[in-house]
Amino acid sequence: MPASQPRLAFHDGHTIPQAGFGLWQVPHDVAAASVAAAARAGFRLFDGAAAYNNEDGMGRGLRDSGLARGDYFVTTKVWNDHHGFDRTMKSAEASLGRLGLDHVDLLLIHWPCPKDDLYVDTWRAFIRLRDEGRATSIGVSNFDAQQIDRLVAETGVAPVLNQVEINPRMQQHPLQAEMDARGIVTQAWTPLGNGLSFDAAPVQAVAARLGITPAQAILRWHLQRGLSVLSRSVNPGRIAENFHALDAGPLSGDEMAAMVALDERSRTGPNPAAISAPVR
Ligand SMILES: NC(=O)c1ccc[n+]([C@@H]2O[C@H](COP(=O)([O-])OP(=O)(O)OC[C@H]3O[C@@H](n4cnc5c(N)ncnc54)[C@H](OP(=O)(O)O)[C@@H]3O)[C@@H](O)[C@H]2O)c1
Repeated sequence: MPASQPRLAFHDGHTIPQAGFGLWQVPHDVAAASVAAAARAGFRLFDGAAAYNNEDGMGRGLRDSGLARGDYFVTTKVWNDHHGFDRTMKSAEASLGRLGLDHVDLLLIHWPCPKDDLYVDTWRAFIRLRDEGRATSIGVSNFDAQQIDRLVAETGVAPVLNQVEINPRMQQHPLQAEMDARGIVTQAWTPLGNGLSFDAAPVQAVAARLGITPAQAILRWHLQRGLSVLSRSVNPGRIAENFHALDAGPLSGDEMAAMVALDERSRTGPNPAAISAPVR
């Protein structure tokens, strides 16, 4: 395990481990074991969500890990059907109850749902939750720069982080630059891009030169871009493999440049502009 894991600085004075373990699609009954395996492998950042239906297992896994509360970082998210001030307050309290925690380190708005136009009210609840100590830091997911600028214009508070889809086929360099300009950390979801680039020549070349797997080559590329990166597996061997991307030697300048050619601006997930909450 690396002696010390890199951390990225938030503009609110807090920090986040750069590499994390995600819980999307981790079945409810294996969430605790997966989190404990990730903690054993070395992960200290755990990314959950109300919508993943496994926050109770996530909380159990964290307790089973034996780690002290101050030694791990927990993120959860408010789902699309809980936009608006009151619903957001209830969603956050329910998540804390399921996790068995009195606070999370980071609370995110899962999707902006722009057609519903409630995300500013949601953000006002986030500010309240931060001020009450229920969330140490507050951020967003799947937002564009204009939506973030609106949050700041209407509340005076900027998110510390924006979690978005980034992988070799959807590289999001312009969005990362916009976040960098605002002092906001960019975090990559679905970093492995469903394995669709594992056989691509630039990935294979890095893996061969460094003696690492294609997944590690891609995760190392994310880390070297300065992103926070989440990965997810229910397989303890792959969990450890993903964590040890932190140990891999750096990609050269030419190798980083060659990766850019894989950008097709094609998403594995939905376009955030098209997502809205189900009718209540
Ligand atoms: N905010 C959002 O809207 C949003 C959306 C999606 C994801 N996320 C977050 O981001 C996290 C990461 O995204 P993701 O879950 O899509 O993760 P990912 O790591 O890109 O993909 C996980 C998939 O890749 C496989 N895999 C993992 N490591 C591998 C390896 N070393 N070699 C080969 N295959 C490997 C896994 O299979 P096995 O389990 O069989 O190993 C699983 O099918 C999520 O878990 C979630 O926390 C957020």
